[in-house]
Amino acid sequence: MTRILGISGSLRRGSFNTSLLRAAAEFMPSGSELAIATIENIPLYNGDVELQGIPPAVSDLKKQIIDAKGLLLCTPEYNNSVPGVLKNTIDWLTRPPADIKIVFAGRPVAIMGASPGGFGTALSQNAWLPILRTLQTRPWFGGRMMVSRAGSVFDANGALTDEAIKKQLQQFVQGFVQFVNEH
Ligand code: FNR
Repeated sequence: MTRILGISGSLRRGSFNTSLLRAAAEFMPSGSELAIATIENIPLYNGDVELQGIPPAVSDLKKQIIDAKGLLLCTPEYNNSVPGVLKNTIDWLTRPPADIKIVFAGRPVAIMGASPGGFGTALSQNAWLPILRTLQTRPWFGGRMMVSRAGSVFDANGALTDEAIKKQLQQFVQGFVQFVNEH
């Protein structure tokens, strides 16, 4: 079983990005699964807190990433860049620095995102690239998933209703799983 871990960069209950991740889980090809992790218990990074020990929510998320073969980040775009809550999570996951190799190096990573605006998180996805490079991940560039006008592609329960985007999402997860299985 190819296990992918999905992380949404939004804490909002009605998050389009979390909805997109849930939709992706339904389209995983046979022999693979998408587990969805939460970042809601990750504290704000503070070096003083770190000196007292890595918080359990951080250690737990590290373990979930290590146990998965790939990482699927679903990112909002804030001010044309990455959202602070997800960057904060990634920052915690890189502490202590010796763990970067174990958690991130060589790990297949795909990025997708949804925005109510017209550009579908294009700038946020670009802004993640130097971070993924720094962590020596193995980013997948074989597909793109930038959902614009998100307010009109999900229903009130967060279910994806747009047929064209469903098809695109299915191809996207298939491509990523294939990449993960080849590496
Ligand atoms: C936004 N939003 C936004 N959208 C966008 O396409 N480009 C942007 O630069 C920004 N900037 C931005 C800054 C801040 C502080 C907020 C709160 C919001 C809108 C954003 O895409 C929208 O709130 C999404 O719904 C957030 O994703 P979730 O929570 O639906 O997953």
